[in-house]
Amino acid sequence: MNAQQFTLLRSFFGLTPPVALSFPSHCSINLINSFFVNDILLNPHFQQYPPSIQYQQRFWKWAIENLEELARKQESEACQICGKGVPLQGPPAYSFVTHFWCMPEQSSELLTSPNEDAVDVSHQHTATLLESRTMIESGTTGLRTWLASFVLAQHLILNPDLVASKRVLELGSGIGFLGIIIASLQQLQETSTSPSPSLWLTDVNDEVLARCRDNMNLSCNLSSRHQNIGYMKLDWSESLEENSPISSFINDKINPEVILGADIVFDPSLIPGLVRTIKISLQPSNCSATFKTMIIALTLRNEETMRSFLSHVRAESMRSEELLIVFETTPFFETVERDISCENVKLFRIITAT
Ligand SMILES: C[S@@+](CC[C@H](N)C(=O)[O-])C[C@H]1O[C@@H](n2cnc3c(N)ncnc32)[C@H](O)[C@@H]1O
Repeated sequence: MNAQQFTLLRSFFGLTPPVALSFPSHCSINLINSFFVNDILLNPHFQQYPPSIQYQQRFWKWAIENLEELARKQESEACQICGKGVPLQGPPAYSFVTHFWCMPEQSSELLTSPNEDAVDVSHQHTATLLESRTMIESGTTGLRTWLASFVLAQHLILNPDLVASKRVLELGSGIGFLGIIIASLQQLQETSTSPSPSLWLTDVNDEVLARCRDNMNLSCNLSSRHQNIGYMKLDWSESLEENSPISSFINDKINPEVILGADIVFDPSLIPGLVRTIKISLQPSNCSATFKTMIIALTLRNEETMRSFLSHVRAESMRSEELLIVFETTPFFETVERDISCENVKLFRIITAT
């Protein structure tokens, strides 16, 4: 498969809107036809984890229009793909979405490959999720993956030691995109001598948490083979209550070394509970002298909300430090918030002030 075909393949699985796609018009129509049929329609991954019917309709409409245009140009009649018959109606509901990613050493191999146009798909990892196609559904934002998760995931892929062999807790984990990446990194980095890693995924919403578990367990995801993943309903606001069980749950049961959160600062009224939950999670454990860190990815939508979060962090005797983001884009296609880019996301490290 050449690089342009691979881009098209991952765009299809990543649900990139057809207006943003580039059609490989310089190839012969037979070659393109065979790519659409063999690499996309008959792809075993596609058969098992297809994008939504709505997305397929738009994609194939775009593909067919371009094929027809090319056929007119190349005076060819070969355009067999229409016969596959994608149904034209159905509820705008859920879709499988697949994101491709690879470890930094493999992406540099890709760049230095003698055949620059060739992509070795076997070096690519995937993260597949069943997710809603609307931003808010059933009153929650958690049934989609948000840009901040993509940015934090890419930061972890570039710095896998942050989660490898660690006890990790994610707050507001949504449907599990970041969880799939963390679990995959923990397994890819595991050695026979390293401590066994663990991962706890938490969210306030039962439906979101159930979807998260299902996505983590999809057999195509490396996370399905992780031996030590826990799921827990956790509402940050409960941390403000006296004698809240959150403290013993987090410290006795999980005792996290790394706490992660993506796009969990969006509603000013949730900030006090969230910050208290972070403080509890960072509390030194009685039985080990582990240094605990939180890394949070915030999408800058409202300066005042971000300021309020950081001032609550200070008021709870914690320190925050902004982390440098060394990439401009991520390998994940941003389909929820099309109008914003990685520049709108900030990464902070939070630790207890000593
Ligand atoms: C914008 S979504 C982000 C989801 C995911 N981290 C991502 O970046 O794709 C915010 C998440 O926070 C969760 N959430 C909202 N309020 C919460 C609360 N009080 N306690 C715990 N989680 C909460 C929501 O259910 C949702 O999954």
